[in-house]
Amino acid sequence: MKPLLISIILLFVQVSVWADQVVNIIPQPLSVVKGESSFVVNSRTSLVFDKELEEVADYLLEYLPLDTKKQRKNNALRLKLDKELGKEEYKLTIHKKGIEIRGGDYGGVFNGIQSLLQILPPEVYAKHAEFPVEVPCVEIKDAPQYTYRGFLLDVARTFQPVDEVKRVLDYMAYCKLNKLHFHLVDSPGWRMEVKKYPHLAELGGYRGGDSPLHPIYGSFFQKYGGYYTQDQLREIVAYAAQRNIEVIPEIDMPGHSKSIGTVHPDIRCNYTPDTSYTNGMDLRDVWCVAKESNYQLIEDIVKEMVEIFPSEYIHIGGDEVSFKWWKECPDCQQLMKEKGLENAAQLEQYFINRVTDMLAKYTKKSMVWDEAVDGGLLPTTTMVTGWRGVKQCLQTTEQGYPTIIMPSSVFYLDKRQSPHEKGHSSRQGLSLQTICDFTFEDAGFSDAQRKNIAGIEGAFWSEIYLSNISPEGRFSDYLEYMLFPRLFGVSEVAWSKSRRSYEEMLQVLQGSFYDRLSALNATFRLASPVVKVEEGKIIASVEDGSKLYYKDIRTDQECEYREPLDAALAPYVTFQSRLMSGRSAEIGLPEYYTYLNPECTATSSLPFRENRSLDRCITYKGDATSTRAAKAGDWVEFKFKEVLDASYIKIITGYKHLFRRLIYNGHIEVSYDGQTFEEVGKLSNGLFVLRPQKGIHALRIVSDGISDAEEYVIIQPLEIK
Ligand code: ACM
Ligand code: ZN
Repeated sequence: MKPLLISIILLFVQVSVWADQVVNIIPQPLSVVKGESSFVVNSRTSLVFDKELEEVADYLLEYLPLDTKKQRKNNALRLKLDKELGKEEYKLTIHKKGIEIRGGDYGGVFNGIQSLLQILPPEVYAKHAEFPVEVPCVEIKDAPQYTYRGFLLDVARTFQPVDEVKRVLDYMAYCKLNKLHFHLVDSPGWRMEVKKYPHLAELGGYRGGDSPLHPIYGSFFQKYGGYYTQDQLREIVAYAAQRNIEVIPEIDMPGHSKSIGTVHPDIRCNYTPDTSYTNGMDLRDVWCVAKESNYQLIEDIVKEMVEIFPSEYIHIGGDEVSFKWWKECPDCQQLMKEKGLENAAQLEQYFINRVTDMLAKYTKKSMVWDEAVDGGLLPTTTMVTGWRGVKQCLQTTEQGYPTIIMPSSVFYLDKRQSPHEKGHSSRQGLSLQTICDFTFEDAGFSDAQRKNIAGIEGAFWSEIYLSNISPEGRFSDYLEYMLFPRLFGVSEVAWSKSRRSYEEMLQVLQGSFYDRLSALNATFRLASPVVKVEEGKIIASVEDGSKLYYKDIRTDQECEYREPLDAALAPYVTFQSRLMSGRSAEIGLPEYYTYLNPECTATSSLPFRENRSLDRCITYKGDATSTRAAKAGDWVEFKFKEVLDASYIKIITGYKHLFRRLIYNGHIEVSYDGQTFEEVGKLSNGLFVLRPQKGIHALRIVSDGISDAEEYVIIQPLEIK
């Protein structure tokens, strides 16, 4: 065939696909006016840009390799600064002869580019766009509702390598989110290199093995962790800046400080705590407020931070401080008397105010979690991240604090998306719909309170991340499952003045965003299959065209679902659907979540709390909580009244949704005769699944070492089928 003919055919194919498309941008722009005609981007299209826009042009070229050698008048994509437009505002025009993106600033042009990428075929996200591409003529005028559109990434609980952080920054950029709240330091890990105190990261960045920090949240038998060198942090800051994202680092203080407390014990209060119930572990996680040397140490750290992070704010924490540790400290108590501080909340505020004043010396402002405002002594110039609930956000905006709205019930993307899937507990599940349905009107914000809303932030805390890193080593799979599609919801709340409904959002996602996520090889969550029993058969279905699979938990074998299954399988099967890079949760029928409750007794070498005794377990009401940590030789025994015939018994120590407060080093013993016990296997992450071949009289959980770095362990009722 002649080349010209091939071109004409190719063009024809593209026309049918791309010129007729509905222009659907997430987040919803202010206005989109589609024209009649179209423009063809080809490999000769010039990229023409203002000098100040070189970085953003480089970004665009990664996705769309345009010609930068020739500056054509027609057949050009132009990037321009336009002083008539506001910060981050943009105007994107596609006309018959070219494309123009005007922005009020760098961010405006960047936002316009993001909208353009969403008009181009999904392959641009895989960075192999094929030319020519025909795009519809359109004029988009757009500006953000909030200047702060954030996402919190917790790298303290689960360390995430630089490339993973960059991946998150890319996702944020696609969603026009512009602040990375980088949770760098917390009890489970210190992730920032401090040159003056190298041991903070070199020791405090790792848990387990020979690290002084005890394991928690998984990886119990291996040293696990990492930290960012200052060069790597600069690399992250630069990568973010190119994507119109500012990195706001957080050092969580004065609580959440076990990591630094363990590797730099000087920060702790000056007394010896009772460690008789913690296997000798000093679990104090607060800075002593009364030690002057602590403020010098913080200033040394701050001095290095301000050299790395150009952000206006530094987040200094202030959440969930365990006041109990200060009550025992003679120095903290003395300080309270001297300064006339009425309670521990005010003692915390004394600390926060000192650090805030120190930051001011380096022209930085402080951000704090909403608890830090409770004592009443913080100036209203302090930026608050409101996480505990809508109620607290209403309070802080009423009190005059600029507040980033991020109540955990709506914006914590580590929470599970429906009741029976992985993630942090959330009774009904925190779904895309939860986010789309959130409105300031319904939440009760007055006009005056709304004036103090400084922005919106989604968050991913990583307690449950480490245990979900896929065996293939695909680090971000679980994170992506939790982000998509919910991050689009956060983006829409943060950006759009006029928002889509949940139903509209779902339609747009299914219409064109699943393709884009697949081009990125990003996992996304599909709605769970609908499963029911009718006329002796289990019937499963999906509405999104995805493929269905089922798994028998007795054998762990998976098959494609092609026809209804026998209802007798109901207690043993889970269903999952998959489509492109998306997948649903694995869910069962109600029968799957129903267990046998055989009569039994429970005894233990561990003492249990009165209101959380083992009785709760054997009456199948809930978990039991010990009053001390477990050590080698501790045991819990369940003895059945009648010989138990079961095909599946799941033994769970710790929380059900989270590998914490568990016996990680232990084994299971079973008695088949009521006299002798034999070992049947080791606990893995506090769990064991027993598939008995004969009747059993009793079983025991036996600890072979210390429990995780907590003051107590939790024992769940047995799950028996
Ligand atoms: C928080 O979730 N403790 C801020
Ligand atoms: Zn103290």
